[in-house]
Amino acid sequence: MTSLAGKLSEIVGKAFEEQGLPAELGAVRVSDRPDLCQFQCNGAMAAAKVAKKNPREIAQGLVDLLSRNDVFAKVEIAGPGFINLDVADEYLQDHLGGVSADDRAGVPVHDLDETVILDYGGPNIAKPMHVGHLRSSIIGDSLRRILKFTGYKTIGDVHMGDWGTPMGMILSELDIRGHDGPVTMEQLAEIYPQAAADCKADPERMEQARAATKKLQDGDEEYTKRWRQFIDISVEGMKKNFDALGVHFDEWKGEADAHQFIAPMIEALKAEGITAIDDGALIIDVTQPDDKKEMPPLILLKSDGAVMYSTTDMGTIVDRVKSHDPDKIIYIVDQRQSLHFEQLFRAARKGGLVCEDVELTFAGFGTMNGKDGKPFKTRAGGVMRLEDLISDAVQKARERLKEVGLQDEFDIAQKVALAAIKFADLQNQRQSDYVFDLFKMTSFEGKTGPYLLYQAVRIQSLLKKASDQGFEAGKDFVLQDADKPLALLLAELPDHFENTVKNYTPHVLCDYAYKLAQAFSSFYGNCHILSEEDEHVRASRLALCAQTRKQLIMVLDVLGIEVPERM
Ligand code: ARG
Repeated sequence: MTSLAGKLSEIVGKAFEEQGLPAELGAVRVSDRPDLCQFQCNGAMAAAKVAKKNPREIAQGLVDLLSRNDVFAKVEIAGPGFINLDVADEYLQDHLGGVSADDRAGVPVHDLDETVILDYGGPNIAKPMHVGHLRSSIIGDSLRRILKFTGYKTIGDVHMGDWGTPMGMILSELDIRGHDGPVTMEQLAEIYPQAAADCKADPERMEQARAATKKLQDGDEEYTKRWRQFIDISVEGMKKNFDALGVHFDEWKGEADAHQFIAPMIEALKAEGITAIDDGALIIDVTQPDDKKEMPPLILLKSDGAVMYSTTDMGTIVDRVKSHDPDKIIYIVDQRQSLHFEQLFRAARKGGLVCEDVELTFAGFGTMNGKDGKPFKTRAGGVMRLEDLISDAVQKARERLKEVGLQDEFDIAQKVALAAIKFADLQNQRQSDYVFDLFKMTSFEGKTGPYLLYQAVRIQSLLKKASDQGFEAGKDFVLQDADKPLALLLAELPDHFENTVKNYTPHVLCDYAYKLAQAFSSFYGNCHILSEEDEHVRASRLALCAQTRKQLIMVLDVLGIEVPERM
């Protein structure tokens, strides 16, 4: 299936063709003046340029053709040559009948058997997760769900930071302390900051850490054993955190997993003749003739032979291509790393690590700020630990639930809290910064997760009440004027999915969910539902309610937001 606008585009496109004009100019979209018409087509102006004719004349020819089609209740020219359209009631009713009979609510399946790897989360071993990792996890998991729903084979990889200098800092600190045997998470939480501070203060200590890192990367048995142990306990902790957040990964790989691919990859890159030595380091020049800004080379090996963040990312591409033969690799990482990814993609293409038709996308995101406009910190000024953030939000959600007279049970509060955090994050344009405001995001009013949950639950109780009275939703729609705004909106869903998948923009679906909830509110306020006398209209209205609820839940689900049964 497609959206209603999609179907109309086809019809209007044919009319363009019949007039000897390019069909794609017949694209129809939802009107931005719903008070004037339901849909519009602005293609006559562009067509006039192609045909070297007057736009209104072109539009008139199209209107004459389209008026004969009983799909439309109204076809009019406006302004310089816009075509305003209303669909006939039967057509809208039929379309909606199809949508409600489809368990995907009209969203088509992308069935090309394509694999997408999504790289998100990216926590670093031993370091606390910060808000950047939170954003990456929320956006990445939602894009994974969206792409999966659309029909892609998806692989979410957490890509942990488990191979850099911090590992050497910990290992050398254990040496200094003469610590044998396993470490606990608590010990690690104390050891790492100490080691990092010492290394920062003392170049010699830093040298030790670097040497230890190199020794680990060269496969020292004792170091590897210790490293493995603290990785394992860290991953255990991370899994708990991500579970609490409702974020899923298919693979728990890290930078270290790229290790085995690095030496052969470097040999191959050298053999291709695209590497150079610069100041002792092994680099790949990634400049391109039309570069407007400075483009530093990608560093493969430091002068001491140690690998870098860029090296493991290159090796990871080799691994991913070998193990999954992906069609796309999407990186959901802090915007501030955009240069790194530009270098990486260029180097990967130059070195032929991926085929040309494999898409590499950097889906960067902005910073989550505190009310002071600086990256969000705890009141004590430290990085916010994920578990604290969640428990603060649950606490606040309970207060909010009580405030509005709803059940403040823990389970419900937890769902409300996660909906608040996730929706507040996802509803922003990915690239923009936003202010983390627990009070605002947990409100049951306005563009928030809790508001949407509440609407979905409210519709559920309305349907329950109806069924208690012996009223059921019908299969056929009998639309009155007051029902149409909601009905038309329900027919838009496929377009919002398409847009989101094309640009990796969950906020488009957030906007849609919010609009849907608002349209439902107006519908609810303007229309009799249970008290409607005409049984066909009543059954149709109940069907609108059921379909609204279904689509709200569908959209929230791909955003990673779970709706409670009751509130
Ligand atoms: N661990 C990195 C960080 O904390 C994020 C990893 C992003 N993914 C990647 N393939 N580089 O900044």
